[in-house]
Amino acid sequence: MKKGERVVVRGLRDVAAAETKISFVEPKGELYYLGYNIDDLVGKVVYPEVAYLLIHKRLPNQQELEEFNANLIAEMKLPDRMIDSIRATPKRCHPMDVLRTEVSRLGECDPENNDLSEAANLRRATRLIARVPTIVATIYRIRLDKPVLAPREEYSFTENFLYMFKGSPPEKAETDVLHRLMILQADHGFNASTFAARVTASTNSDMYSAITSAIGTLKGPLHGGAGEKVMEMLDDIGLEEHVEEYIKGLLDENKKIMGFGHRVYKAEDPRTKHLRGIVRNLCFRDRTTSLCNKCNKIEEIVHDRKKIYPNLDFYAAVAMDALDVPKEFFTPLFASSRVSGWTAHVIEQYEDAVLLRPSSKYIGAFDRKFVPIEKR
Ligand code: CMC
Repeated sequence: MKKGERVVVRGLRDVAAAETKISFVEPKGELYYLGYNIDDLVGKVVYPEVAYLLIHKRLPNQQELEEFNANLIAEMKLPDRMIDSIRATPKRCHPMDVLRTEVSRLGECDPENNDLSEAANLRRATRLIARVPTIVATIYRIRLDKPVLAPREEYSFTENFLYMFKGSPPEKAETDVLHRLMILQADHGFNASTFAARVTASTNSDMYSAITSAIGTLKGPLHGGAGEKVMEMLDDIGLEEHVEEYIKGLLDENKKIMGFGHRVYKAEDPRTKHLRGIVRNLCFRDRTTSLCNKCNKIEEIVHDRKKIYPNLDFYAAVAMDALDVPKEFFTPLFASSRVSGWTAHVIEQYEDAVLLRPSSKYIGAFDRKFVPIEKR
């Protein structure tokens, strides 16, 4: 091979970077977690069952689920110094920036951080699955100058997440929405943030470092940050009758419509039908009904013009809005679910034990003449 000669697969499109048993994204519009079609999971299992499935590679029985739920609740409470650190963060910082820093801090607080045995990694994964939601809830409460709440034994893990975020007793309908949303967001093949986590884990770095990499990657608006942009767009559109002009205007200028398109799916994202169902059931408020109407119109126009479909983030934004989650907390909520997939992939990457290190095609110069600094 000549100097600098390499084949570049731009954006790593269709490149299989490793083998995985965790999830399969089928381009024709299906999604499998450990061999289970998500259509057979959503509405039939609770989120902790899926989190258990991802990290233990099998569904739990009743007793295992109860133990897992109890372990999650026991792990939810944050060390005081983390709460102090969140309190000291300027409120103008994006919650994803705070989350990224505090997950990194969790590594400092873990006395067995450098033990990469399977048992220690499963304990660590459980802790991260429990504490990422708590960090998010804590950031939110502190921003509102409201007391930080500890988990309560009488609530399940998912109920506790709602309670610790909102401060009111969790309602059944809201908890059901959160289970579905968290299941749909839990994993998705080698998406960018999962890949980032696996690259970090492939150097035998610790799990907190890997999840910190993943959070930084999820934040971007081409990935998990899209949901916040979707809500900005829906609010910016204003009245329903402005949808057509607004969206056609963006398309005429070749601008991207946030919450649309996907690298893998060539058909509708299989999560969209579940999310449409979720938001339809939440349309008892005028705002949600209006957002849904706008979304339906946008879908029609974008599909007509570009033949592309909404992705997870489009209707998830409306669902989170209906749960009274402010838009800057959409991506942190996404991270609170995706952490189960990330930790599962980190464990799988440790098992694979290979450094992820691609090459690049060098297109720079070779023969530049060096000039000492005093002569430049
Ligand atoms: N709006 C308008 N046109 C689009 C969009 C969009 N959102 N997405 C793709 N296209 C068009 C694109 O312009 C191109 O058209 P043409 O062939 O005429 O040039 C064609 O569809 C193929 O797009 P691409 O850019 O090659 O697709 P990609 O695989 O590189 O990008 C993507 C995938 C998700 C980054 C992109 O669709 C996008 O930027 N979407 C908006 C941001 C978004 O919603 N992100 C969330 C992704 S899914 C959930 C998650 O992972 O968090």
